[in-house]
Amino acid sequence: MLRVIVLGAAAGGGLPQWNCACTACRAAREGAQITPQTQSSIAVSADGVRWVVVNASPDIRQQFSATHVLHPIKGPRSSPLSSVLLTNADVDHVAGLLSLREGHPFTLYATDRVLRVLQGNAIFNVLDRGSVERLALRLDQVQSVFDAQGCDTGVRIEPFAIPGKVALWLEDPEAAGFGGGPEDTIGLALGTTGSRCRLFYMPGCSALPDAIKSRLARGDSLLFDGTTFTEDEMISSGAGSKTASRMGHLPISGARGAVAQWEGVSLQRKLFIHMNNTNPVLLPDSKERAFIRAAGWDTTYDGMEFCVE
Ligand code: MLT
Ligand code: MN
Ligand code: ZN
Repeated sequence: MLRVIVLGAAAGGGLPQWNCACTACRAAREGAQITPQTQSSIAVSADGVRWVVVNASPDIRQQFSATHVLHPIKGPRSSPLSSVLLTNADVDHVAGLLSLREGHPFTLYATDRVLRVLQGNAIFNVLDRGSVERLALRLDQVQSVFDAQGCDTGVRIEPFAIPGKVALWLEDPEAAGFGGGPEDTIGLALGTTGSRCRLFYMPGCSALPDAIKSRLARGDSLLFDGTTFTEDEMISSGAGSKTASRMGHLPISGARGAVAQWEGVSLQRKLFIHMNNTNPVLLPDSKERAFIRAAGWDTTYDGMEFCVE
């Protein structure tokens, strides 16, 4: 059984975002209708002792403080953190690595491409190579996640390439596809030794070819990109100038949106994660929240816990 904790349900910027006064950000600041949410990350464990964090959010320090099972319990300097896995090199998924620089040994897994990005940025050398081993994920292969001592954590993963976009801070305006490649964005199937990987985590996904949908089977659980509700939400809300597609995200609604595309795939759970603060599904009384619930989906929230068989 895989234990799952949502450490951060929001997209980059979080909820509230420091410079945003949209409806959800104001409500979260007032603490009235909705609770603040930190940036995009989950933690999983096979044994309830060693924890694997998927994506290192800029809010990781706060997330570790808020999550009892991630507190140090074995002496003056320790942590249940065994490994960090990255699904891309976005700021909201890698900046938290800088906060993990206190000498704690863990393993760091990412695609070759994302490892090269980290390698090319000297600031990540704060993660001392003696303590933090960097390991390349093998796409389309089921593999065990090992801790820094070389022991199997019991967590198994199958990484797979998905349509996405190169990280915003790496975009090359001159290059086709802004200079992105197939290993920029991955999804992960996660599970435990001896059973199928039944949790699918795709916090950033810009299109859904059948080859991705067919990876999931009845009874699986899905945490999927819920950045925006509509394609032009950033523009219509006055928050920005880019469409969801331009940012590398599939909107929730519309004929090509996530709800329509996942319709008919019978799953144990369909949950949105990486929700931008402009997304009205964050507001509990919104018609957009009612729409996703009627379609069998729900939102995640910081501290949400569940188990996957
Ligand atoms: C995204 O999910 O589109 C990125 O996190 C955007 C960003 O880097 O701000
Ligand atoms: Mn993001
Ligand atoms: Zn906002």
